[in-house]
Amino acid sequence: MKEFLRMENMSKKFGEVYANKEINLSVMEGEVHTLLGENGAGKSTLMNIVTGLYQPTGGDIYLRGNKVKIESPSKAVKLGIGMVHQHFMLVEALTVFENIILGITKEKSIFIKKDAIKKEIQELADKYGLDIEIDKAITEISVGAQQRVEILKALYRGAELLILDEPTAALTDIEVEGLFKIIRKLTAENKSVIFISHKMREVLEISDRITILRSGQTIKTLNKKETEEAELANLMIGKELVNSEYKKVQKTKEKILTLEQVSFNKSSKHNGISEVSLTVGKGEILGIAGVDGNGQSQLAQIVTGVIAPESGNVLLNSDKVAKFAPINFINSSVSHIPEDRNKMGLIGNMSVKENLILKSLSKKRISAGKGFYLKRKAISLYAKEMKEKYDIRCASIDMELRNLSGGNQQKIVLARELEEEPKLLVAVHPTRGLDIGATKYVHDMMIASRDKGCGILLISADFDEVLKLSDRIAVMFEGQVVGIYPGENPPISEISLAMSGKAK
Ligand SMILES: Nc1ncnc2c1ncn2[C@@H]1O[C@H](COP(=O)(O)OP(=O)(O)OP(=O)(O)O)[C@@H](O)[C@H]1O
Ligand SMILES: [Mg+2]
Repeated sequence: MKEFLRMENMSKKFGEVYANKEINLSVMEGEVHTLLGENGAGKSTLMNIVTGLYQPTGGDIYLRGNKVKIESPSKAVKLGIGMVHQHFMLVEALTVFENIILGITKEKSIFIKKDAIKKEIQELADKYGLDIEIDKAITEISVGAQQRVEILKALYRGAELLILDEPTAALTDIEVEGLFKIIRKLTAENKSVIFISHKMREVLEISDRITILRSGQTIKTLNKKETEEAELANLMIGKELVNSEYKKVQKTKEKILTLEQVSFNKSSKHNGISEVSLTVGKGEILGIAGVDGNGQSQLAQIVTGVIAPESGNVLLNSDKVAKFAPINFINSSVSHIPEDRNKMGLIGNMSVKENLILKSLSKKRISAGKGFYLKRKAISLYAKEMKEKYDIRCASIDMELRNLSGGNQQKIVLARELEEEPKLLVAVHPTRGLDIGATKYVHDMMIASRDKGCGILLISADFDEVLKLSDRIAVMFEGQVVGIYPGENPPISEISLAMSGKAK
């Protein structure tokens, strides 16, 4: 096997902090090489150097043995390097086709050759089994489909090395299988793949070799065949991680949330809900299992006041909700860990500190005069306390949120929402993008909130997570609740069947 990429002593400093420090990495042709490391370990930064988005502070890059300088993203493309970023970079207002050709063809010639180019793209898609709808707008297609577009975009530009930064975080199990098929096709053609994921099972399935990063440094490169989960976890966090089992609780009488035959966009199988009835009790976790895109989004939006149902009743405690607006739900002590933190949870160009207090502006400890005067010292103290408590890894609480690693951004949403001691927590994919240590921490926090009496509606595409945390499990399929099961000794095969629409 020949080497495709080699990085020697790569370093990247942001201010005084090293995000990468003298990293060594070698990627072979036809290899799937995984980068494994905690949130903030420096994985995305290293890949942003390879793709010319960042200039390194020091170190060298070799491609097929030749030293190269990657001074811009277009240079990386020329050198055959393509990347699908952790946060997608597609232009939502444009179509799939327009996104794929964006920036590579002059407008006039597109007009002339449009059909020919389309055909070419479609052929490429067919070759790799990338199922796409070329004329649809990005907003009309699922997250999995958006990712296929990103991959196709990179391949159309001639990528020999494809970098996938947490590509599976938002995919369903079936979509992950599809992605792995594509990866195997690429490596069979001697293309290289750098894969980043926090999900051990996937890492052990798809990788040839695994490089562990910790605090910006390379710890070790291992052959997949010669390692196992415990060793990887150990190297990654520097200590053993004890897996916790949580006690399930019985359904409580007192109800925090009740839905009575609630419908929204009823005729849609994927973007609506139909006659949904369910309850969340005090001190109980109701988990929603189901393949993403079966109405879970709409359910979460209704119970946080983002959208109003078209029929049916929603009761908070025992009071019927009259007006659906997020502020009303916040005032009723409903917290929300939203599906897409970048769109709904966080503000990228505000500081860590500001993001932490976004929802507490009228609280006495934060401000005086109805939010008019902010207590700066108190805010800083509070933010520092949260940084400690939730292990938010950032150089300073004054840095812009967008410069935090993906997982650390998610921790900010969690800190803000859980600290409010909500009566109801609507948690949508709460651990998406978190490393194994942080995931365990969030699970512990959710269980602790439950035990303090918080009712939790957990919506997660991660079936293992639903099984682990839920006291009861409701399955959603095509906008309906098709079954409710106990969380203690759950009938797993029955639930799986229900998830695929085959409930008894
Ligand atoms: N533009 C920037 N300015 C300042 N600091 C940055 C910038 N980009 C990244 N960092 C810091 O570099 C460190 C590494 O971040 P990086 O995004 O590479 O982590 P990661 O391994 O990809 O983590 P995750 O698994 O959470 O995505 C973090 O501490 C982050 O805050
Ligand atoms: Mg990252």
